[in-house]
Amino acid sequence: MNLSSALQKKIFHIVRISSQRIKQDSYVIGGYVRDFLLGKKESEDLDILTIGEGIRLAKEVSKYIKPYPKIRIFKRFGTAMLKYNNQKIEFVGARKESYCFSSRNPFVELGSLQDDQNRRDFTINALAISLNHNNYGKLIDPFGGLSDLKKKILRTPLDSNVTYSDDPLRMMRAIRFSTQLQFSIEKSSFKSIKKNKNRINIVSSERIIEEFNKILLSKKPSIGLLLLYESGLLSIILPELTLLKGIEEKNGYKHKDNFYHTLQVVDNISKIKENSLWLRWAALLHDIGKIHTKKFLPKIGWSFHSHEFVGSKMIFHIFKRLKLPIGNPMKYVKKIIQNSYKPIALIGDKTRDSSIRRLLFEIGDDVEDLMKLCLADITTSNMEKKKKYQENIYFLMERIEKLEKKDKIKNWKSPISGNDIMKVFNINPCKKIGIIKNFIKDSILEGKISNEFQSAYFLMLKKGEELGLKKNNE
Ligand code: CTP
Repeated sequence: MNLSSALQKKIFHIVRISSQRIKQDSYVIGGYVRDFLLGKKESEDLDILTIGEGIRLAKEVSKYIKPYPKIRIFKRFGTAMLKYNNQKIEFVGARKESYCFSSRNPFVELGSLQDDQNRRDFTINALAISLNHNNYGKLIDPFGGLSDLKKKILRTPLDSNVTYSDDPLRMMRAIRFSTQLQFSIEKSSFKSIKKNKNRINIVSSERIIEEFNKILLSKKPSIGLLLLYESGLLSIILPELTLLKGIEEKNGYKHKDNFYHTLQVVDNISKIKENSLWLRWAALLHDIGKIHTKKFLPKIGWSFHSHEFVGSKMIFHIFKRLKLPIGNPMKYVKKIIQNSYKPIALIGDKTRDSSIRRLLFEIGDDVEDLMKLCLADITTSNMEKKKKYQENIYFLMERIEKLEKKDKIKNWKSPISGNDIMKVFNINPCKKIGIIKNFIKDSILEGKISNEFQSAYFLMLKKGEELGLKKNNE
């Protein structure tokens, strides 16, 4: 196979010359080759495999690059990394691996190209291209990776039971690649994932979440979420979600399957807003409170009253357990979920402006995201109903936009500060300042006064007087 177009790159010529000089055969391998053969945008990560020492090759390569690049050496792993034209190039010596049951970190010894290809996760990731003088550009494909790429199938080079048990993170990778590339996982391989699902417990939460986030950020996350569910991995990683599965019927009343509904909402939000990881997390977890709030009310049917409030209370523990960032992302997800039902209560032309201002005050800049989630939450298959629900949301979005333009509530800052109040009445910090500030805020949100200094000032004087304060006349 002639891969000449990929191999026009100067870096490959440099590796070729360097390999020859130090007499170590070298290859491009892994994700770069896979993505190139798939015709994808060139990967920023380039893995160079050499039969010998990776660090030695990196040092030789660096001699041909100007200005002389900084080499990062990872002695413990015998690898080295340097940057060239925005590309991260990793040099690694071919190795043979063996594993013990309690860890996914292998014992490593020097090996051949074949040994190294054997230890890789999928046939499509074991493809290598020679950078050697005698067969430069030759594709080395011992497991039929190219044919699997064409057939869109994920297969492990060796016994899948061994591949997944050795490094259980590969179960997550299989599902991640399947979602990103829309490839299917070979039947027997998926069986091995089911069999080895509990091995995921030896993988750190950080690594699991890294893959999980890639699934969530893909074009159609439900592909991966369903595979995670079917393999049994989801109930280990995120049982709060799998508990949503199921439909119950009583006295002729049925509720929807909240698990499948959630998957649809996540797919919908992925179409509405690209690349927004935390909004996707909010969509994924927006109904988890339903497990704890489900009630059957005779003659009314199923109720999940306050599920958004109960759900938002569960977020901290989930984020902590999964080692997701507890700072702003967690606060954002919590806020979106807690407010996820509020816009529904504001549907209709009878809704007062003040109620909309209150929502804007509460949710601030995230109001657009909240409204997008409301749109994504419409999953009815009844087209008429769907259209009507969407129109309702669009109508509310328009009102929000108009009100915000007029009243500037989103990033609301009181026109009167606590310091202003202390100065005007010549008082020290005390409870009355809070009372006055709240009164001003409520009056603005209610639309009783406009959102500017002069009106707020007069209101402050009036409220201060009511509270027994006297204006300082100095
Ligand atoms: N690999 C593996 N098992 C793992 C991780 C990686 O066998 N648990 C191998 C695969 O051959 C993979 C290569 O190491 O192609 C590089 O790994 P990585 O950079 O993590 O993944 P890529 O395949 O390059 O894909 P992506 O960049 O999308 O993560």
